[in-house]
Amino acid sequence: MLIRIERDGYRVQYSAVAIPENFRFAMPDQIPTSPAETQIPPVGFGLWKIAPQDAAEAVYQAIKTGYRHLDSACDYGNEAEVGEGIRRALDDGLCGREELWVTSKLWNTYHASEHVQPALERSLNDLQLDYLDLYLVHFPIALQYVPFETRYPPEWLFDPDAAQPKMHPAPVPLAETWAAMENLQDAGLTRRIGVCNYNSGLLHDLLSYARIKPAMLQIESHPFLTQEALLRLCRENDIAVTAFSPLGALSYVELGMAEQADSVLQQPAVLAAAERCDKSPAQVVLRWGVQRGTAVIPKTSKPERMVENLDLDDFELNDAEMAAISALNCNRRFNDPGVFCEAAFNTFYPIYD
Ligand SMILES: NC(=O)c1ccc[n+]([C@@H]2O[C@H](COP(=O)([O-])OP(=O)(O)OC[C@H]3O[C@@H](n4cnc5c(N)ncnc54)[C@H](OP(=O)(O)O)[C@@H]3O)[C@@H](O)[C@H]2O)c1
Repeated sequence: MLIRIERDGYRVQYSAVAIPENFRFAMPDQIPTSPAETQIPPVGFGLWKIAPQDAAEAVYQAIKTGYRHLDSACDYGNEAEVGEGIRRALDDGLCGREELWVTSKLWNTYHASEHVQPALERSLNDLQLDYLDLYLVHFPIALQYVPFETRYPPEWLFDPDAAQPKMHPAPVPLAETWAAMENLQDAGLTRRIGVCNYNSGLLHDLLSYARIKPAMLQIESHPFLTQEALLRLCRENDIAVTAFSPLGALSYVELGMAEQADSVLQQPAVLAAAERCDKSPAQVVLRWGVQRGTAVIPKTSKPERMVENLDLDDFELNDAEMAAISALNCNRRFNDPGVFCEAAFNTFYPIYD
């Protein structure tokens, strides 16, 4: 699939989500600072499930459309192609490296301290970058190490060719992983570090020992899973929040983990706001995410949606619309290792109770 944007040179203006002051102070001295470095563009481009053969062109077109925030991960299996897209965009002068915010994530098999830096360096090499803006622990799940030469990315199963393949958890404390993450920031390989898929208990624990506090928590959040307590905990501790799967069920329909009928885009509260604002239901849901102070990172393979999902800055939801959309919360989680690890990887591994 080739992605072509009809509106050549199209740029969508957007304001940046303020992230805490401590970001600046946490940055190593050797990295030059600029105002852009203290802000995360509130709408990023999600890269999970973009096929490798499409990823370079998708990233190039995303940057051309105006995205300045890319959400990547080793586990998405497309970082080399994402790197190609970034390189082409930089070479063509679409933007400078310092204008881009690139996030990547440490995979579960690399949690032991000796594997953390090589994992980041592999991502940097694939992405053709010499630093990341943000490196996140992908899951609070440590799995047995799989060398790069055996399989990359290693994914969830330890031995996919076994008669009964399973996940092989590894006894690596999250504190060990975090200390290695802190070293990456000290070394200037990433400007900030953070975590994904932590609940409030794990965050409290992390804050008790972190020498460098997490700059970001990335979690599933949409109108069916508003995560109010976790957002408040982050606000009170100056931790910014990125909402993944911001459109809710849609990402999980193709995986057989949700039904089309689970889509939040059909909800009357969303449709009413869309009609009043003359925007699409997806734009309303993404705008709701931005207005409540989270960054959102929608993924799409469709060029027209790439434009649509970034075009959120010329309207505002009123208080009643914000409240009505937030009231859709039913704590519906689509990305739950306690469910999918057993269904897909023969291993019961709950992390949320
Ligand atoms: N840290 C983590 O553990 C974690 C977990 C999951 C995701 N993430 C990150 O978050 C990103 C976004 O999450 P996600 O990909 O799960 O879900 P998402 O972005 O909420 O939804 C993607 C789905 O919505 C569809 N879609 C996109 N724009 C649309 C629009 N304007 N109207 C209607 N449908 C639209 C897409 O279909 P088309 O492609 O056909 O447009 C796709 O099926 C990921 O790509 C990844 O970077 C992180």
